[in-house]
Amino acid sequence: MSKDLESPVTGDIPTADFRRQAHRMIDWIADYLEAGGRPYPVLARVKPGEVSSRLPARAPEDPEPLDAVWEDFLTTVLPGVTHWNHAGFMAYFGITGSGPGVLGELLSAALNVNGMLWKTCPSATELELVVLDWLRDAIGLPAGFFGFLTDTASISSLLALAAAREAAGLEIRERGMSGRTDLPPLRVYASDQAHSSIAKACITLGLGLDSTRAIPHDEEYRMDPDALDAAIAEDRAAGIRPLAVVATVGTTSTTSVDPVAKIAGICQREGLWLHVDAAYAGSAAICPEKRWCLKGCERADSFVFNPHKWLFTPIDASALYTRHPETFKRAFSLVPEYLTTPESGTVVDLMDYGVQLGRRFRALKLWWVLRAFGLEGIRARLRHHMAMAQSFAGWIDRHPLLERLAPVPFSVVNFRASGPPSFSGQQVDELNLELLKRVNASGEVYISHTRLDAGIALHVAVGNLHTTPAEIARLETVIDEELTCLLNR
Ligand SMILES: Cc1ncc(COP(=O)(O)O)c(C=O)c1O
Repeated sequence: MSKDLESPVTGDIPTADFRRQAHRMIDWIADYLEAGGRPYPVLARVKPGEVSSRLPARAPEDPEPLDAVWEDFLTTVLPGVTHWNHAGFMAYFGITGSGPGVLGELLSAALNVNGMLWKTCPSATELELVVLDWLRDAIGLPAGFFGFLTDTASISSLLALAAAREAAGLEIRERGMSGRTDLPPLRVYASDQAHSSIAKACITLGLGLDSTRAIPHDEEYRMDPDALDAAIAEDRAAGIRPLAVVATVGTTSTTSVDPVAKIAGICQREGLWLHVDAAYAGSAAICPEKRWCLKGCERADSFVFNPHKWLFTPIDASALYTRHPETFKRAFSLVPEYLTTPESGTVVDLMDYGVQLGRRFRALKLWWVLRAFGLEGIRARLRHHMAMAQSFAGWIDRHPLLERLAPVPFSVVNFRASGPPSFSGQQVDELNLELLKRVNASGEVYISHTRLDAGIALHVAVGNLHTTPAEIARLETVIDEELTCLLNR
C-alpha cells in the first residue's frame, strides 16, 4: 500500500475537538447576541495595517490546536471588527445577524450544498422558491413575480439590467457590443439619488458610465418624473436608445421613494424595462401601513430588496423578483453536457437565471428567520425601529442647534448642526464632519454621513434588533455633549 494511503492524517478534524469548540463558540455567540455587542466599541479602533501586522506572514505547515485559533480570534481578529450587530450601530443601514439567521447559516455551512441545479440539492431550489413566494406575498407583490436569491442588491440590479438589455432584442448575447456599427448608444435612467451599484452595473455590462443618465430629484429627494420624460425625449431625438429606468424605493441617503406608479406609466408608454431597487425599504412593506411605498411596483419588470438589510438575515441575501424569468434565462442560460440532468427542462435550475454557477443554501437562514419571528413578529420589530427613528427626528426638530434635512418615511434620519450664522457652507460641513468623528469616537454609537442639497448630512439608521430607546437617548446625549464642546472651543 502506498504511504499516502496509509497516512493517519486524513479526514476532518476529530469530532470531539469540533464538538468542544462548537459548544464554546455557540455559548460565545449567544452571549454576544444577548449583549447586543455592547461590551465592544461599535467602531473598530485599529489603525490600517494593525490587524495584518499581528498575523503570521505564512500559513502554518503543521496543524494548530483549535484553542490557539480561538484565542487568536479573540485577541487579534475581534479588536479589528466593526460591530454591525451592535445595538449602537446606526450607520448606513442598520442590519442584524439574528439568532435564527445564525442558526440557518450554521446548517448551511455544515451541509455545504451547491444548489446550482435542482438535482444537486432539490431542497435548496425548492425552499428558495417557496420562501421567495412567502416574501413576495408578505410585501404585497403580485403572484406573477418569480423570485430567487443573489448575494447583494448590486448583483441583483446587474442581472436585472442584463435582462433589460436582452429584452431590447439587440443580439448582444450572441454578438456582443464591441466593433458593432449597428448599435446606437444605449441609455439607463435613474435618479441622482440612486445607489452607485446601478452605474457599476452599466460599467460591467459594457454600456459604460456615459450610458447612465441621472434624473434630478424634487424637494423630497424623489425622482422628478417630468424630468425623466423630458430626458427620454431628448435622448431619442439625439439618436440614443433608451433601455431601462431604475426607480428607487428607499434611496441610500434619505430613503426617499421615487414615484414608481408614474415612472411605470412612462416605461410602459416608451417600451422601457422598469427595475425597482428597494434594497432597504422593501422590507417595510411587510407592514400594511407602509405598503404605499411599493405602489406601482406591481408593474415593474424586475424588483430587488435585501433581507440582509432590514429583515434580520445575516449578510448576504438579496431577493430578486421578475415578471419575466424567461428573459433572464435567455440572457444567462448556457448548459454544457456535464450540467444536464434527467430533469433538465422540467425543473427550475437556478444557475440559469444569473452569472454564477455555484449557489449557497441561502434560503435556509431566511426560512429560519421568517419562521422564528413570524410576519407579525417582524412587523412589530420594524415598527419599533420606525418609532425610535421618529422619536429621534422629533428630538432633532426641537433642538435649537440642529436641523433635519429630509423627511423620515422609514427608520433613517438625516440632520446636521446648523452652525453659527457667520459660518460659510464649507465651515458648516467641516463642523458636521468633526461632530461625526467625535460621536463615533465614543465607541457607543456609530453613525455615518452623506451629502444632501444643504451640504454634509449626518445619517442615523435604526435597524438593528438590539437597538433600544436607551441607545437613541445615548446618541442624543453624545451629540449634545460633542456639539457643545465643538462650539465652545
Ligand atoms: C438603494 C440601495 N441599493 C443598493 C444597495 C447595495 O446593496 P448591496 O450591498 O446589497 O449590493 C444599497 C446599499 O446600501 C442601497 O441603499
